[in-house]
Amino acid sequence: MVRSFLVILFCAFFSCEGTSEDFEQKPKKFMKPCFNEDELLNVCTDPIEICHEERTHEIKLVRIEGVKKGHVRWVELEERKNYKMITRALKPLLFEIPQFLSDEECEHIISLAKESGLSMSIAGFDRAAYEGDLDEDMAEADGNWTLDHDERFAKGFFVWDVNKDGFIDANEVRHFAQKRKLLFMRENEVPAMFERLELSHALEDGKISRQVFAKLNIKKILWYMDFLKEKSPRHRPRYSQQAWLRQDKNSDPILRRLLERITRLTQLPDKVIQGGEWMQVVQYDPFGHYHGHLDSTPSKDPTIPCCHQNHFGKPDCRVCRFITILYYLNDVEEGGETAFLIADNTTITPEELENENATTDEFNLSVNCHMANLVVPPKKGTAIMWYNNFIDPDSGLLGSVDRYSLHGGCDVIKGEKWIANNWLTAPTKYSRHIKSLYDTS
Ligand code: OGA
Ligand code: FE2
Repeated sequence: MVRSFLVILFCAFFSCEGTSEDFEQKPKKFMKPCFNEDELLNVCTDPIEICHEERTHEIKLVRIEGVKKGHVRWVELEERKNYKMITRALKPLLFEIPQFLSDEECEHIISLAKESGLSMSIAGFDRAAYEGDLDEDMAEADGNWTLDHDERFAKGFFVWDVNKDGFIDANEVRHFAQKRKLLFMRENEVPAMFERLELSHALEDGKISRQVFAKLNIKKILWYMDFLKEKSPRHRPRYSQQAWLRQDKNSDPILRRLLERITRLTQLPDKVIQGGEWMQVVQYDPFGHYHGHLDSTPSKDPTIPCCHQNHFGKPDCRVCRFITILYYLNDVEEGGETAFLIADNTTITPEELENENATTDEFNLSVNCHMANLVVPPKKGTAIMWYNNFIDPDSGLLGSVDRYSLHGGCDVIKGEKWIANNWLTAPTKYSRHIKSLYDTS
């Protein structure tokens, strides 16, 4: 599920819809990444430009030592200006840096985002997202039960009956909603849905038997789920608005200066910093949230290309965000914490939490924010930085995802919340030759 969040999220950012043919027809900035031998990289920003060489073998990622939870150090990130850096967790390795941004910098970033225009995050929405009137649609679904092609799988009883006891119970309906529709339903919302759809007769002791399921109008249920997702922000995986701000050599001087500060903070080579994504600025209103997710895509196949290096626009790419630096840009009246669900946990494993068969309420931060192991309250100017991936010991480049980095943003209860994300992407040993799409150096 976490993975599907990210795929959808990324399709929103990178427009994964086009085929590779589409991609090749469009003029792209970096047309021709071309390589020589293993250690030397030639990258062209233009097909006719002469390639220049870069020594990628010098790129080595670093992780700053956490020492222990609560450890405090002072680091000089600006000329004669020291910043406090506190270790908040070891799993994932996470630091808090209070007053990393000045008030003026926070306000400046917010105003740049407003100038550039914010748009609603579409994470978790599919193209079939509900747009109509519920009563009209229910009447239509009563007249025609046929499912759209991409929803036919929902006719399979075992898609729903996860524990295979021959019945679909309320939890299994919630499980289906979460895994298949990225919809977060509460327990009491399941019988309420059946009542609203005039399908209560299908429930015996709150469960649906196989025989009843065979005669059930599934289309009504699916359409109702789309309706909830569209109309009720609380049910969405993410409810926020966002803007992207470029941060390369041609960008705003304050943002560029910030990049220098994060170079010192992370101790990463310039090449890695230059290949980071544009800054994402996010605004949340009351009910705004981002349920549990990973910023980097876990992948069984390490040869799948990283999206930030995907010059040929292959649809199957994964997000390779070595580090997240998250800045709080304002003080929130109430709520809006960032929650790390299983940070430093010794009892629950990430695999248990991600178990396909479990209804993972823990991911729903509108309900379970304060059950998370590490809850960081938003404070204007504070930055938190964590590592989404380990370092591959052979190459010193991007290694596997640290599943303990699972996190999200809790509901804003009062006021609004503004944050910015800097995602520092990194190459893997399979992609060490390929320049980041964000690197304009
Ligand atoms: C994100 C995120 C957390 C927060 O934007 O990826 O995890 O506190 N945000 O808003
Ligand atoms: Fe995140």
